[in-house]
Amino acid sequence: MSNRPLNVGLVGGGKGAFIVNPHQKAIHFDGTRRVVAGALFPDPKIALEEAANWPYPIRGYGSYDEMIAANKSLPDAEKLDYILIVTPNFVHFDPAMKAMKAGIAVICEKPLCLNLREANELVKTARKLNVPFGVAHTYLGHWTSRFSRYVVQSGLLGEVRWVDSYYLQGWLATKLEATGQQQATWRVDPKRAGGSGCGGDIGTHALMQLRYVTGLDVTEVSAQMETFVEGRQLDDHFTIYCKLSNGGKALVRASQICIGSKNDLGIVVAGTKGTLRWRQEEPESITICLPNQPDRVYWRGAVTGGDGFLPKELPADLMAEPTIPAGHPEAFHDAFARLHRGFEADVRKWKAGEKFNCDGGKYANVEDGWKGIAFIETCVKSAASGKWTKFPKL
Ligand SMILES: NC(=O)c1ccc[n+]([C@@H]2O[C@H](COP(=O)([O-])OP(=O)(O)OC[C@H]3O[C@@H](n4cnc5c(N)ncnc54)[C@H](O)[C@@H]3O)[C@@H](O)[C@H]2O)c1
Repeated sequence: MSNRPLNVGLVGGGKGAFIVNPHQKAIHFDGTRRVVAGALFPDPKIALEEAANWPYPIRGYGSYDEMIAANKSLPDAEKLDYILIVTPNFVHFDPAMKAMKAGIAVICEKPLCLNLREANELVKTARKLNVPFGVAHTYLGHWTSRFSRYVVQSGLLGEVRWVDSYYLQGWLATKLEATGQQQATWRVDPKRAGGSGCGGDIGTHALMQLRYVTGLDVTEVSAQMETFVEGRQLDDHFTIYCKLSNGGKALVRASQICIGSKNDLGIVVAGTKGTLRWRQEEPESITICLPNQPDRVYWRGAVTGGDGFLPKELPADLMAEPTIPAGHPEAFHDAFARLHRGFEADVRKWKAGEKFNCDGGKYANVEDGWKGIAFIETCVKSAASGKWTKFPKL
């Protein structure tokens, strides 16, 4: 494959859609990827109108079936290299399967799909066809998440004893869905969202942050899934006590009824030697607390080794990640761009017939997506039975 920018096709994203917007900015971030096509809306006529009104020229399609089928006969310069699925959860499985079978790589929004049956199929197919598959867990893309992962997994905090991984919001504290608000209506509908509302929507981000930073898995859960807003079918408050694969414990909690909380995702990792704290609303630094010492604050772009806590040599690829200097703040869009950048590297290797990583280090992969769905299903079982429930094996 030439050095041309990678071609990306959008599934979803028309008419007031939310998450397509930061994604499409992130796709264009480096000049090495571009959006060239889209099946933007379920109604074919509106899908074509939306594509015609897109801020830059793209090929519009009436459906993702058409977009994927048309790809076969396009010249190489115009072929799709990956699709980005930004539809509600119930429209993740079908386009992802069809794209993989047509030889197109996939980045799918989280949660991966609706249930474990679909997740099993997606993992099986991605492995069998050896297609790059990313899941858009945004917050792994912060440089400080990568740095946190290095600090914890290199043992600088000792053995992990306890993790508090949380995501608190307040936007569903009232029955917003009754007003017809686009993003609220499908998120509270089990047919379109899946087995959990709040847990599926943002609890999966908190789980992924825990797994990404610590490298540990959840082995058993004791779940409370509550619905505070009257008449809502799915949980809007999600509190999960977890056993971890190293024998440690964790709380994975999420809420959408905490008025005043915006996107308060954060993580506290308490090890035998010290504690790490990070919050995505202030994503440019992490705090390390060591016994009987003043807290250390590490800022992206201003980290040097050999300071009495960090070793002299720090991982070259972590330190070399393209960033603007410290104090010019990075945030949400930069995190998305880092995911697409990591995915692009794998897609280019795949296209060149080389081995690609897809190991979850630069973006969440299909197995990570599977674990998100398995987590939800295990929590639903535990909440219903009131018992500790074991996490299934992949
Ligand atoms: N990674 C993150 O931080 C993050 C943040 C928000 C949402 N999400 C996820 O992104 C997905 C979309 O969420 P959103 O808030 O942007 O939803 P949204 O309702 O704003 O947008 C969904 C879009 O999909 C379109 N759509 C629905 N069915 C379709 C079909 N069959 N063909 C083509 N288009 C179709 C809708 O018309 C709309 O344009 C969800 O899975 C959600 O969980 C992730």
